[in-house]
Amino acid sequence: CGIVGFIGQQDAKEILLKGLEKLEYRGYDSAGIAVQAEQGVVVFKEKGRIAILRESVDASVHATVGIGHTRWATHGVPSKVNAHPHQSTSKRFTLVHNGVIENYELLKNDYLQGVTFVSETDTEIIVQLIEKHVNEGMDVEEAFRQTLTLLHGSYAIALLDNQNQDIIYVAKNKSPLLVGVGDDFNVVASDAMAMLQVTNQYIELMDKEMVLVTRDSITIKNLAGETIERAPYTAELDASDIEKGTYPHFMLKEIDEQPLVIRNIIQKYRNEAGEIELDADIRNAVLDSDRIYIIACGTSYHAGLVGKQLIEGYAKVPVEVHVASEFSYNMPLLTEKPFFIYISQSGETADSRAVLVQTNEMGHKALTITNVPGSTLSREADYTLPLYAGPEIAVASTKAYTAQIAVLAILAADIAKAKGRTLDFDLTQELGLIANAMEVLCGQKEEMEAIAREFLPTTRNCFFIGRGVDFFVGLEGALKLKEISYIQAEGFAGGELKHGTIALIENGTPVIALATQEHVNLGIRGNVKEVVARGANPCIISMKGLEMNGDRFVLPAVHETLSPLVSVIPLQLISYYAALHRECDVDKPRNLAKSVTVE
Ligand code: G6P
Repeated sequence: CGIVGFIGQQDAKEILLKGLEKLEYRGYDSAGIAVQAEQGVVVFKEKGRIAILRESVDASVHATVGIGHTRWATHGVPSKVNAHPHQSTSKRFTLVHNGVIENYELLKNDYLQGVTFVSETDTEIIVQLIEKHVNEGMDVEEAFRQTLTLLHGSYAIALLDNQNQDIIYVAKNKSPLLVGVGDDFNVVASDAMAMLQVTNQYIELMDKEMVLVTRDSITIKNLAGETIERAPYTAELDASDIEKGTYPHFMLKEIDEQPLVIRNIIQKYRNEAGEIELDADIRNAVLDSDRIYIIACGTSYHAGLVGKQLIEGYAKVPVEVHVASEFSYNMPLLTEKPFFIYISQSGETADSRAVLVQTNEMGHKALTITNVPGSTLSREADYTLPLYAGPEIAVASTKAYTAQIAVLAILAADIAKAKGRTLDFDLTQELGLIANAMEVLCGQKEEMEAIAREFLPTTRNCFFIGRGVDFFVGLEGALKLKEISYIQAEGFAGGELKHGTIALIENGTPVIALATQEHVNLGIRGNVKEVVARGANPCIISMKGLEMNGDRFVLPAVHETLSPLVSVIPLQLISYYAALHRECDVDKPRNLAKSVTVE
């Protein structure tokens, strides 16, 4: 979910709606705004996209203060009733919330017997608790603070009081939230992008802080009531990066940006002598450890799987890769000197952050590889390696995945060098060639569209197979396809398919096979034969030098350890066109959010 708030002189409605549009990547199943109008607080909310909300907002309502929310449902189905903002019984208080209140049932039973709830959300508990405290005689600030001390879980909150038009109450714990500073106005946002339209000056908030935001003041306090001073920073974001330009979809734009991103990464991670070089502290921390644990979710997890191959292959440091949501309660036996790498495009994924909090408590060193320096995971880890990919807006991740792999390759090469190991190729040069190869692939969109039309026009499922690193890219290809086209797609290790899943192969089932690795080229082709014998429709994507008769597409040759950087591009484009043909919403697929800030 994403939240925004504005208090100033201009029309708050438009600023809030624009802000929510920029936050739609965090969830888009319902949305709402509340503004302080002459007649008191007015709420507009709707199920569905911001565009629907926009239509429902009464343009004649004049307000210069308001809050807004775009939702990714956790407690309660997506509906108008469950959409935020939520109000207390008397309607004096109106609140938006991002996060999950774990003890909401308990709070409801202990404190709110007799209160009638309108929605099924955990959020309504918060606003009712505030009202209860006020009814018992507390002033609003104290009631807000008391309520916060009762909440277990995660929250980013903005609150309006019908009886005081000149303030927004704000609080944060575990969910991301920033306060933006303006001239005669101030703003609140889950992410700086939302309010870049009015300011690039932001103040970070720490967990368990609350803030009183007026037109000309920002007062941060901890839950003990002590005031905290913190200076703003400048958000280094270019507003034009978050526009689609001439592209029909952000996803296509972001696929096309990949060569540029790789070149950018080479520049940023090069020293004056032109050699790839990491920050010495990061290098030493890795060298001091006896094992790397990579923690991530979704596409970032898939990049981690490739990263393991690179780090183990180049630097000979053992690596384990774990899905964050499992690791937090199913932690493997750690070695004596573990080093943690968190991979997260957004730097805000709650599942990954939960593990970081745990490993920080255990005293282990951690590095975050992220596209958003300054994000929660970046701030809370000892070190950060930025992706320099520019904002990624489409929910399905593309350029962040390849950027993550490139940065992991740089890390692997740097550690290898420090250990006195020489690679059989020059990484900078190879990444340059890869950027060129990516450009060639991005120029072959018609071919990718033809493949999508040929293999995926009406199919209900699709399999991706590969061996070694191709298997990991297959997992990512399958995730892309299911995310945006809703075709049931699964990635399998080529040799494993026959141990069960092959039962699903029917006449015409598309099987996309990757063959970019010489040592398993014959092996994967054997697996293709097995599925063809059972009626599958194979689409083999091989690499120059390994191609054979009947291959559907041949990738330009690159160093085989880095083949995921090029082999994933056709898979991204095929998914894009498959989704387009099925008239799916490419940039905002159903049920998903780009940044999942709840565990
Ligand atoms: C969400 C997105 C995925 C993404 C995952 C991890 O589930 O829908 O596309 O890969 O989160 O996100 P992160 O920002 O941590 O890389």
